[in-house]
Amino acid sequence: MVDIAENERTWLLSGPSSSYALHLTEEDELLHLHWGPSIALVDAEALAVRPLPGYWPFETPLDGREEYPVEGGPRFVRPALSVRTEERRGTEWTFTGHEVEGDELRLRFWDAGLAITLHYRMRGDVVERWVTLDNEGPARVELLRADAATWTLPDREGWRLSQLHGRWAAESRLTSAPLTHGEKVIGSRRGHTGHQHLPWVALDTDATEERGEVYGCALGWSGSWRIAVAQLPDARVQITGGAGYDESGLLMLEAGESYTSPVFAGLWSDGGFGGASRTWHAYQRAHIIPDADRDRPVLFNSWEATNFDISEDQQSALARRAAAIGVELFVVDDGWFGARTSDRAGLGDWTPNPDRFPNGLKPLADSVHALGMQFGIWVEPEMINPDSDLYRAHPDWVQYQSGRKRTELRNQLVLNLAREDVQEYLWEQLDALLSSAPIDYVKWDFNRCFTDAGWPGEPYPQRLWVDHVRAFYALLDRLRAAHPGVAFESCSGGGGRIDLGVMSRTDQVWTSDNTDPLDRLAIQHGFTQIHPARVMAAWVTDSPNTQLNGRFSSLRFRFVSSMAGVLGVGGDLAEWSEEELTEAGEWVELYKEIRPVVQRGELYRLRPPEGGLSAVQYVLGDETVVLACLQAQSYGEPVPALRLRGLDPTASYECRETGEIHRGAVLLHHGLRAGLRGDFDAAVFRLRRI
Ligand code: GLA
Repeated sequence: MVDIAENERTWLLSGPSSSYALHLTEEDELLHLHWGPSIALVDAEALAVRPLPGYWPFETPLDGREEYPVEGGPRFVRPALSVRTEERRGTEWTFTGHEVEGDELRLRFWDAGLAITLHYRMRGDVVERWVTLDNEGPARVELLRADAATWTLPDREGWRLSQLHGRWAAESRLTSAPLTHGEKVIGSRRGHTGHQHLPWVALDTDATEERGEVYGCALGWSGSWRIAVAQLPDARVQITGGAGYDESGLLMLEAGESYTSPVFAGLWSDGGFGGASRTWHAYQRAHIIPDADRDRPVLFNSWEATNFDISEDQQSALARRAAAIGVELFVVDDGWFGARTSDRAGLGDWTPNPDRFPNGLKPLADSVHALGMQFGIWVEPEMINPDSDLYRAHPDWVQYQSGRKRTELRNQLVLNLAREDVQEYLWEQLDALLSSAPIDYVKWDFNRCFTDAGWPGEPYPQRLWVDHVRAFYALLDRLRAAHPGVAFESCSGGGGRIDLGVMSRTDQVWTSDNTDPLDRLAIQHGFTQIHPARVMAAWVTDSPNTQLNGRFSSLRFRFVSSMAGVLGVGGDLAEWSEEELTEAGEWVELYKEIRPVVQRGELYRLRPPEGGLSAVQYVLGDETVVLACLQAQSYGEPVPALRLRGLDPTASYECRETGEIHRGAVLLHHGLRAGLRGDFDAAVFRLRRI
């Protein structure tokens, strides 16, 4: 809901439990007023007349108070907008009006032919912000930087910054540190979202998992990006974020051209980190994730089982074993196309390898369907091996700099998706592929960063960074529209492309190539700070772990760890014993039962992964599921009881596992005894309100 003051210069956006307010001065300075608990319009108006501190000449009262600081004039903070024409650099805008359409507020400004529109939309308690820039004048305008938004925090002492950092096979690890004066900058200059940081930050002063104020911001962009958190000289804090890492130029807007930034979403919660996560999850389920009400199937993926060494018969045999344990979607990973018998060849040639699949993918897809499962495949369309028919035909279709070497990573180059001929080629290949066989699922990978992002002959090659992402989105959108039954997974060597942008056009994400069930608990703890279990793919693989660390772990531990998200199986089922297969079947059956609660319920992180005992709880209506994992028991001490959350203290709950009836108040205040012991023990508890 948007409220507007009578003078039409103060605006208040309200969600169910929070408000956001801003004010335009007589000089057309757009000031931030409030972001936090619900307030009324009169409160916002009272804030609007509070005098600004008089700071001149070495500080300016605008710094740390503006909604969208532009470059130029009395401002020394990081500008959200930096533009230049042949004549001048910077912006001096005048306000030209506002509009409200539905729940979206638009504020319009003008500077010498450049129309600047700031967009605000409240969805639940999440504020979405973005900017559009329209060049309506005759001159070209270069956008050096056009961030989506600048967020301003209230005056508090002792801000703490939380972020999700990592690298390949170690993504989404949560870390927090006190914010000090100056700037903390995270981002990616790699062309994709990156494993190194999820585009998310949270700020608090004294919050715990379940209590206290938390501010969170997350960017919806799958290319290079930057979020800068600044503590200014007077201790005000602002968070600025958008597409692109540097100010080296985002786009050149010719007369009549426009730019729309990605959405930078933000929320305030007074329910601690858990409350903030639940608000993020509800927002994504309601507004971002396609068909979020439809639960994701249990999948099998062949990568860890068979690597590049695949054949139709061998995959059929795996499919029979997968079907027997209850798998619902069978995915053939890398190695089915072109000359792809290793990572040295084949990317770019998206037709089945004739030696491995002499009659195409249809026979395998049909046999998978006959087993009652859906059929999926792996692709990596944005990439090309120099050893491919595509490269031999079009060596100029890749990103490269004239006269410089073409850097190969994993023996591959990046296609220049900004080119229309490349876009058209990929559309034709993928559309034909999806039409050639009954394919229900596509795992879409991206296995290297940009290194030589050049485009010889193009007058403004810098546009490639933005246009690649736009072309990737457009291709996904077009394929989804043409093949509405096909679900997509976003993968980038594991979790290298996870953000709200890609999530709005894919059905789930590959969380990490690290399938060690213990490491996964920490990765999942970080991941769920922002994203819900509904998109978090998690496979049960072999023990000892083949991919990473050779760790031995019980099948029980591996299953319970993976059941916290979208369960998958990725072990070599051909090598699993009858007992293991039987046990796996039982876990899969149990998962199907708890799936609606896990995938659609409210998540409570009961205990973080550090400290040996880790547990998460999901609540949906009268149903509650608790997943508990014990890494190691020490000194024979009983593990602590798990204090549950989100229950009615006056109600009773029946535990399906033990048959015991528990009082809600007891579970909340004294806890559930999980009875785990030894090493790598784990358990699932299903509780129903009676
Ligand atoms: C990436 C993915 C893996 C697998 C391989 C195939 O690393 O993250 O899951 O698909 O590519 O080459």
